[in-house]
Order: sequence, then C-alpha cells, then structure tokens
Amino acid sequence: MSEKTKKRLFIKTYGCQMNVYDSARMADVLAPLGYQAVDGPRGADMVILNTCHIREKASEKVFSELGRLRAFKQERLAEGGEMLLAVAGCVAQAEGEEILRRAPQVDIVFGPQTYHRLPELVARAARAADGRGIMDIDFPVESKFDHLPEEAAEPGPAAFVSVQEGCDKFCSFCVVPYTRGAEYSRPVAAVLAEARRLAAAGVREITLLGQNVNAYHGEAPAGGTATAGTWGLGRLIRALAEIDGIARLRYTTSHPRDMDDELIAVHGEVDKLMPYLHLPVQSGSDRILAAMNRRHGAADYLRIVERLRRARADLALSSDFIVGFPGESDADFANTLKLVNEVGFAQAYSFKFSPRPGTPAAVEQAQLPEAVKAERLAGLQQLLGAQSLAFNAACIGSDLPVLLERPGRRAGQLVGRSPYMQSVHVTLPPVAIPRLVGKMLQVRIEAAHPNSLSGRPTLDGEDLDGAPQMPPRASSSARITA
Ligand code: SAH
Ligand code: SF4
Ligand code: F3S
Repeated sequence: MSEKTKKRLFIKTYGCQMNVYDSARMADVLAPLGYQAVDGPRGADMVILNTCHIREKASEKVFSELGRLRAFKQERLAEGGEMLLAVAGCVAQAEGEEILRRAPQVDIVFGPQTYHRLPELVARAARAADGRGIMDIDFPVESKFDHLPEEAAEPGPAAFVSVQEGCDKFCSFCVVPYTRGAEYSRPVAAVLAEARRLAAAGVREITLLGQNVNAYHGEAPAGGTATAGTWGLGRLIRALAEIDGIARLRYTTSHPRDMDDELIAVHGEVDKLMPYLHLPVQSGSDRILAAMNRRHGAADYLRIVERLRRARADLALSSDFIVGFPGESDADFANTLKLVNEVGFAQAYSFKFSPRPGTPAAVEQAQLPEAVKAERLAGLQQLLGAQSLAFNAACIGSDLPVLLERPGRRAGQLVGRSPYMQSVHVTLPPVAIPRLVGKMLQVRIEAAHPNSLSGRPTLDGEDLDGAPQMPPRASSSARITA
C-alpha cells in the first residue's frame, strides 16, 4: 500500500475481553481500506470508541471522551484533514439515537453485531453530505463471523478467540442480553480453523471468549447428525488441546448453571486447560440470587466448586460480586462474606449495584443508599484482597511455568502469566530478552504483591530456550484453602 493511501486508525476499547476481541476484528475489517492502527486519537483519520454499558460509570465515560475528541476533530479539519468518529459496542447498541442527538460530531454508530459492515458504513459516512451521523445497530440474521476477514495483525503469544456471543439468561441487573442479543455459538469447524491459524502464527495460549462461554453449543464438524449435531464447551476444549503449538487453554466467562459434567471432567483430564476459572457467583444469599434471576443457590455454587476441585486439586477460582442489590439486607451480605470464606478466591471483581435502564432490578422499590453500598463494597474488597494476597504469597518459593508476553516496566524484565493468571515479572539476563517473548519458562517465585508475582528463571541464561513447554501440575502449596 502506498504511503499516500495509508490512513491512521485509533480504537479505544472499554469493557470486557469480548470488546478487546471485537476491536481487533474491526481493525482487520478496516485494514483492506488502508487503515493502520496508531496509539492515539490526535491526528487520526478514524477514531472508534468501542464502548461498555455494564455500569453507569462505564457508559458515562463515552460522553466525556466524545467531548475531548471533538476538539481533536476540529483540529484535524482545520489542517484540511478529516477524522471519522465512530461509536461502537454496547453503549452504541443501547443508546445509539441519544449519541447522535447529544454528540453531532459522531459520524457512525454501530453495534456489536454489525461491525463486519464497516466498509459500507465508512463509505456511507463519507457520502453523508447533510453532516448527520449514520447508525447500524441491527441484530442481522447473518452472523458477522461469516463475513469477517482472517486476522490481519500479528498476534502476540496469548490470543482471544470468541466462540459464543450474547446471552439468554436475563439476570435481572444486566444489560448484556439487550446489548449483545440472543445466544449464538460459532460452528466447531470455524473455531478450530481460527485456532489453527493462530497456532501457526506463533500463538501459545488461547482464551475462549463468550458472554456465557460455557453455554457453548456449536454445530459439530461435518458428519454430525441432528441429535449429535452440536458440541459443548468440554468437547471443544478436548479438540483444541490436540492442536500442535497450543500449550495453554482458558475460557471466560462462565455461568454456574452451565458447568456440565463433561466440562468439569475436562478440567481433570486436559492438562493444557489451565487450573484457573472465572466463575461469577454475584452473591452468597439465596434470596438475592433468586431476585437476581441467577437460577442457582449458594449451596449449588459450593457443590460445583467442590466437584471442580475434585477434578483438579490446584484449581484457582475467581468471581464477580455485586453488593447493594435492591433489598439486600445485612444478613444477605453476611452470607456473601460467608461464601467467600468458604471458597477462598484467588482473584475477584466486585461492584456496587448500578441500576441500568431497561433492566428489571433498576425499577425495584428497595434500592439501597449509596453509603450502604460503599460500606459493603469496602468490607468485601478487604476480604477478597486479603485472599488474593494470601494466594499470591503461597506461591513464593514454588516454580511456576510462565508464558512470557511482553517487556516489563523495568529494564531487564519480561512479564507473563502463571497458570493461575497471575502476572509474573521475570528478571532475565538482558541478552536473552529479545528471543524470550512467546516462550514458556520455569520461574522461581521470589515475591508476591497484591496483583502480581516476581521471580527469576530456574535455569541459567544458556539454557533458557530449553525450558519445558508444558506446565507441570503446580504444587498444592499454591492453593489457598482458608
Ligand atoms: N456474563 C458474565 C458477566 C458479564 S458482566 C456472567 O454472567 O458472569 C460482568 C460483571 O459485571 C457481572 O458478573 C456482574 O458482577 C457485573 N455487573 C453486571 N451488571 C451490573 C450492574 N447492573 N451493576 C453492578 N455490576 C454489574
Ligand atoms: Fe448478564 Fe447474567 Fe447473561 Fe452474565 S449470565 S451476561 S450477568 S444476563
Ligand atoms: Fe460491557 Fe458489553 Fe462487555 S456491556 S462488559 S462491553 S458485553
């Protein structure tokens, strides 16, 4: 492509990993039009905000960012250039009209299911002489996955593959079923083909993504019959584990209701499946779980955890929690703390309930005062923080396989992930650094921090390339039981 036709594309991504995946695919769709990624909005020919609607704070960010971008766009126009401004993702889906009304500087609004149509939208925006933004927030019958080009950018050592999208669960607090639409699973063959391409491009670790990834039921590869016509996630993981070059598999985000027998068994039988699982529980109170429409109780969750740990003793768990759901009493909240103590989480995310437009929980009478939510959040985070620090501290002295992904903040360091998703800062001989990104290394853990570990390779510099590629089972000392 000549320098002249090159265009600068800046994509800012908010929200979950699904949005991170989508942003990468938007860049793939725009690459044939000459767009190349840059790291800032200033001077860009196109800026896309890929937005998140999950909590109020997340969506508010979009409007403040649009204000900032308006100035950059004017700057660009003054120099005789252009800046196409697009809003994508879940806020676009939920509030597209309002975006166009409140932010006339926006040229294109499109939702999570229509970004394969970006070339057409860009052409239409360029033609829109009336200066009004255009919008495409359909849920088209054709799947965008059938229309996306193959990945254009070089992947890093760890990559995402979206296998499932949308959600039919309708938890009473959540906007996702409205912003992402109904549950859809990609066919097995398409997922395997994408994973093989990534492996051939040097990817070592794949994280399977879905809003409700363990509800996966993809069309079986050719030869399937009507009844045996779909595969669940467990079977998909077994097939992915056969791909040469892929050393690690993960999946996120799961719902407790969809942890079926096969998937639990796979945790014990497929070594490449990493011993870390994000399994959100939201609350430890049966009353609140029912009001949330989660369709499981606290005891069900504990039983699933017990079965998972029986399959894979060193499994580390992570979860999401919401505090201050309408009607949550002190006793309900105490049950959440009790469940946290019973499970022992390696990592967790916790949020104050945020009433979202269009969801049933938002119009419940018994909304709680902000101060109560804040107090409960602080209490829960203190407990969860202590658990993750203890989990990290228990790793000191053990040797963990780390997939090195990128340079660290300090010179002489690379950062990678342990099997348990901890970021590990590894101090290395400077000469070895350039060839070690993408390699799996045994690392002796020397220090633990609230959100990361640090250590050194167990082998000397000469032997670094000979490090084992497959993670052995970690010692049980890495698991926290209290
Ligand atoms: N599909 C995933 C979660 C997607 S949203 C699942 O079912 O677990 C990620 C997290 O955001 C949720 O697990 C929940 O803890 C939180 N969340 C969703 N809606 C929220 C709301 N209205 N207020 C506060 N937190 C919310
Ligand atoms: Fe939202 Fe519940 Fe679906 Fe998760 S399972 S995306 S929390 S509705
Ligand atoms: Fe946010 Fe949409 Fe993901 S609302 S969490 S970006 S599915």
